Amino acid sequence: MHYFRKFVVAGLAAGLGFAAIPAQASDDPVAVRQSLMASMGAAAGLAGGMMKGEIAYSPAAGKSAIATARAVSLSFGDYFPAGSDQGNTGAAPSIWENADGFAAELAKFTDATAKATEASGKDGPADVEAFKAAMGPIFGTCKSCHETYRKKN
Ligand code: HEC
Repeated sequence: MHYFRKFVVAGLAAGLGFAAIPAQASDDPVAVRQSLMASMGAAAGLAGGMMKGEIAYSPAAGKSAIATARAVSLSFGDYFPAGSDQGNTGAAPSIWENADGFAAELAKFTDATAKATEASGKDGPADVEAFKAAMGPIFGTCKSCHETYRKKN
């Protein structure tokens, strides 16, 4: 009995600890947007590997990469409040100096992911050629935005 209680209490504490992580992260927009881009980078690694034939293609993996890009494109723009240009960030000052230009890059990103999501369908692109056609335009938006809105180095 005593052991069981301890186990439950430890489980509760672990649960609370877990719940506190998102609360902390949302207080730090730089950490949130960097983790979104890190998941985008991971999905791009998987996608690029399949496009080059280094990783075996599967529709489920293709769908997963596209779904990640879709979610990132819809949420990334929400984490650039005034003042978050300071500190350990790769975000260039041009984001705040040219907010319309940055919004236009975000729009290219969301347009590309919307089309890819549609092409992806319920089961993911059927073969690697279909995946390349869907994913290629999303890759085009990485460079286009990073060129102007991400710090070099
Ligand atoms: C609309 C602009 C925009 C688009 C589109 C975009 N990025 Fe980014 N990306 C950024 C900015 C800004 C940062 C720096 C964020 C920061 O450090 O606060 C960044 C950072 C990153 C990082 C570093 C994340 C980290 O751990 O700090 C990776 C990896 C990345 N992007 C990959 C990609 C890939 C791959 C794509 C395309 C599929 C892409 N990005 C599309 C703007 C963009």
